[in-house]
Amino acid sequence: MGRIKDTSVAEVKAAADIVDVVSTRTSLRRASSARFTGRCPFHEERTPSFSVDPLDKLYYCFGCGKGGDVVRFVQESENLDFAGAIEWLAERFKVTLEYEQTSPQADAARRRRERLTTLLDQATAYFERVLWETESGEPVRTYLAGRGLGTEIAKEFRLGLSPGNGLVAKARERGFTLEEIRAAGLANQRGNDYFPFRLMFPLADARGRVVGFQARRLRDDDPLKGKYVNTPESELFKKGNVLYGLHLARPAIAKQDRAIVVEGNTDVIALRQAGVEPVVASMGTALTEAQLRELGRLTKRLLLCFDADAAGQEATLRGMELAVKQGFDVRVVSLPNDEDPADAPDSFAGRLGSAESYLHYRVRITLERTADRQEAFVRAREILAPIEDSPERQEALRLLADRLDLPRETLAGLAPARARRAEPSAGRSTPRLLEAGLQRERDLLAATVRHSSLIPELAALTPEHFDDPLHRRFREVLVDGAAEDEELVALRAELGARADRDAIDERTGKELLLRLHERRLRRELQGADLVRATELQARLAKVHVALAELV
Ligand code: UTP
Ligand code: MN
Repeated sequence: MGRIKDTSVAEVKAAADIVDVVSTRTSLRRASSARFTGRCPFHEERTPSFSVDPLDKLYYCFGCGKGGDVVRFVQESENLDFAGAIEWLAERFKVTLEYEQTSPQADAARRRRERLTTLLDQATAYFERVLWETESGEPVRTYLAGRGLGTEIAKEFRLGLSPGNGLVAKARERGFTLEEIRAAGLANQRGNDYFPFRLMFPLADARGRVVGFQARRLRDDDPLKGKYVNTPESELFKKGNVLYGLHLARPAIAKQDRAIVVEGNTDVIALRQAGVEPVVASMGTALTEAQLRELGRLTKRLLLCFDADAAGQEATLRGMELAVKQGFDVRVVSLPNDEDPADAPDSFAGRLGSAESYLHYRVRITLERTADRQEAFVRAREILAPIEDSPERQEALRLLADRLDLPRETLAGLAPARARRAEPSAGRSTPRLLEAGLQRERDLLAATVRHSSLIPELAALTPEHFDDPLHRRFREVLVDGAAEDEELVALRAELGARADRDAIDERTGKELLLRLHERRLRRELQGADLVRATELQARLAKVHVALAELV
């Protein structure tokens, strides 16, 4: 896709309301004329340390140190790249984006994708209307109620009803060609509605745009066999790329740093209705690489839930294995036979607490499935051998010893793999504890952000007055209006928030300026010859006079 024009980016930034955007993630309260505060949407906390500047459209969290502008906030909270965040904001604040000229083919492809997306969205709305507003929807509304799925949650997931015919005609009325309707998976070869009379579950991408459907059978005389009929695989729709419910679960995944993965769509809906979050469904198949990649951007901790039937199956194990190989921390929740999470959403939360580690699960399944004691031991040993020592491994060992009634000496033979050097963790940014000198530099910059009258005096300092390279760059921004990259925007957000919270006034700024002058002079004095030293002493004296006059 073509690059978004800079003018469009500027227009989006101007139109965006950061308080409005942040408020969808956490509730904000006006703390002063210049600030809103609330609980940080990026980490768990009880007291609010998240601060929003509505005018400069910046946010900063004193707890976890995250900060930036409104675009960065959307990138972070919606897990989008820059262009994605601009598009997200453009949609929300009704800005029409312009793209740099690209090849005619690329433009055409983009326009076609947009049309198909619009068509799918209109089809979803059509199915919704049939479900909620027509006579034929009545028994289906009763069916949903009978399954304990309330109207509100059903509407949140945009459930609908395919009447079995009529959609194609409607779409053509709206100006879509039969070719487009087929490409979107909504018409069959003969040009009739693709979906029979069925309950429709729209499948959305991570941003909530409908890309296809799963249609659940409702009638015994349904001509099609499967309980679910899916949109046919195409360039536009690949079932293996979709995780059911991801767009709604994203905020909670980011916040709790974990995702619960179940098998069925209805489980996702019932659990969300019961307040269990964040839940997504793999839609009955083993987790695919594409699904794991999508999840991996949000969290590395997965809780996989299977009913007893699925639990031992090869496909299930393959999905788990794949997740473990990709570095996920996998825990497994096994459900009793014939119990879907949707059947008992309230007791489900309790089951989560008794999730077992993947290693424990693998050893347990192996022991349960291998009748011969010796063989079971050999297989379990194979699983445990390459694993380094950890609480999970210890736990799995205890299970092995218990189940096979092994003597201690045998267990001792199962030494763990030698520990590899721990990889440096991705490391969430934490607020740095600055040493006093750096703190002074930072406070001075904070004062200048709020009191532009200090800019000429800041200009009189040199880059060398600052020890931190980032502070030097920010001084340049304030003095010369140099362009700000993401790191500098984040610093600006932090400085503004600090200046407001700590009420850093102009006088404090002046004092800090003098302190930095003083520090530099003292450093130069060391190793200066006599003539130079005399000159420096005189200047130092002036600084001290100025400092004294300040109070
Ligand atoms: P389930 O059979 O557990 O369905 O399959 P479910 O979601 O619990 O549906 P209800 O409770 O009977 O209404 C789990 C998932 O596997 C996919 C669907 O995504 C379903 O949610 N599936 C199942 C298919 O894609 N095709 C099928 O024929 C069956
Ligand atoms: Mn079910």
